[in-house]
This record gives sequence, C-alpha cells and structure tokens, in this order.
Amino acid sequence: MLFITLEGIDGSGKTTIAKLLREKLRSEGYNVVLTREPGGDEIAEQIREIILSKKNEKMDPWTEALLYIAARCQHVSQDILPALKEGAIVICDRFMDSTSAYQGYARGLGIRTLDEIQSMVLGTTKPDLTLFFDIEPKVALNRMQERSEDEMNRLDLEKSTFHEKVYEGYQVLISEHSERIKVIDADKTINEVLEQVYYYVYNAIDKIKAQKNG
Ligand code: TYD
Repeated sequence: MLFITLEGIDGSGKTTIAKLLREKLRSEGYNVVLTREPGGDEIAEQIREIILSKKNEKMDPWTEALLYIAARCQHVSQDILPALKEGAIVICDRFMDSTSAYQGYARGLGIRTLDEIQSMVLGTTKPDLTLFFDIEPKVALNRMQERSEDEMNRLDLEKSTFHEKVYEGYQVLISEHSERIKVIDADKTINEVLEQVYYYVYNAIDKIKAQKNG
C-alpha cells in the first residue's frame, strides 16, 4: 500500500523512531511491516554479515556497493514487494538512498552511476516517501561514542570525515528529490521527532486513500 524509507547518517536515531512509528500505526489497525537494510530475508542477512564484518576491512568500494545492491534485490523480491501487494505499509530502515550517499557520494563511485544500476536491478520499486533524519555529523558522532565497540560495524568505524561526506551526499539527494525526501529535524526530543514523522506519514496515507477513492 505504502512504501516508506528512513534515511540518515549513523547515529541519527531513525531506528528508535521506526519502532515507535510501527507501534502507532499498528495500534490504529494498519498492517505494518518494519524491516531494515542491509538485511531482510535469509540470503540478504548472509550478505549483511559479509558487508559489515570488521574482518573485511580490505573490501573494495565496488564490492561493497554491489553487495548492498545484491542484498536489496533479494529483500525487495522476497519481502518488500509481497508485503506491498498484500496492502501493508512497509517501513524500511535504509534503502537505495543509503547506497547513493555512502557508496555513490562518500566512496566516490558516483550517485548517477549507482542510480542506473539500481534502476536496472530494482525496476520500478521506489519509496513513496523517504524521511531524512537530519542531525549534524558532530552530534551524531557524539551519540555513536556512547555505543560499545561490539555494537559498532565496519562502516560505523570509518573516520569522521567519511560521515561528513555521507551527510553532504544526502544533501545532494534531498535537493534532487525534494518531492519524495522530507527532512526531519532529528536533534530534538523523541516526541518532537515523532510529531514531524507523523505529519508526513499521515499525509502520505491520506494521499493513497484519496487516490483509491478517486
Ligand atoms: P546498521 O548497523 O544497520 O546501521 P544503522 O542503524 O545506522 O542503519 O548498518 C548499516 C551500515 O551500512 C550503516 O553504516 C550504513 C551502511 N549502508 C551503506 O553504506 N550503504 C547501503 O546501501 C546501506 C543500506 C547501508
């Protein structure tokens, strides 16, 4: 029914908000599927292990990008599309914009090149709404420092300049897709962040309902 993706730099708090959004929508009787990337079905979870393992520090940027896309392909065909066909609201913690910002921009492979590959692989599956959790890279880094070493993955451990570049990459995407990507001020209390999220999500739900009735 509705495909929502959540994006942001590491430490932007989107995962906490995703769970609260799921509960709120479920309490209103919506069928909600919350999932995350990289991951999803069994094969995509195996790819996740390879990508995020701290052992794989020699991974080539192209290997990294193609593995993220491979995991996404599996996730879309096995989980996301079937759920959307059943009429669910699918909330996905990270999706194709992560590949554009992290691999396309920050790793320098090119946003457009990766867009082309992703369009070939994913076809018309695109989010209806994307929420970007906006937080200064420095603030996010402080939040990340509260995490233990065990909780950090290979990308979390990148230098602060990498996270700043990822943030810049997202700014490019926001300016190019302002219709789809909505900016949430994530440097606020949880309730204040949720209020902004609900505003865009309920607008999107109303739009879908209006299309159905019209
Ligand atoms: P995860 O532990 O799920 O982090 P988070 O809670 O911040 O989403 O790890 C996912 C990491 O992978 C995160 O650092 C972002 C990165 N990533 C990419 O670089 N490209 C991608 O396409 C995706 C989906 C994630």
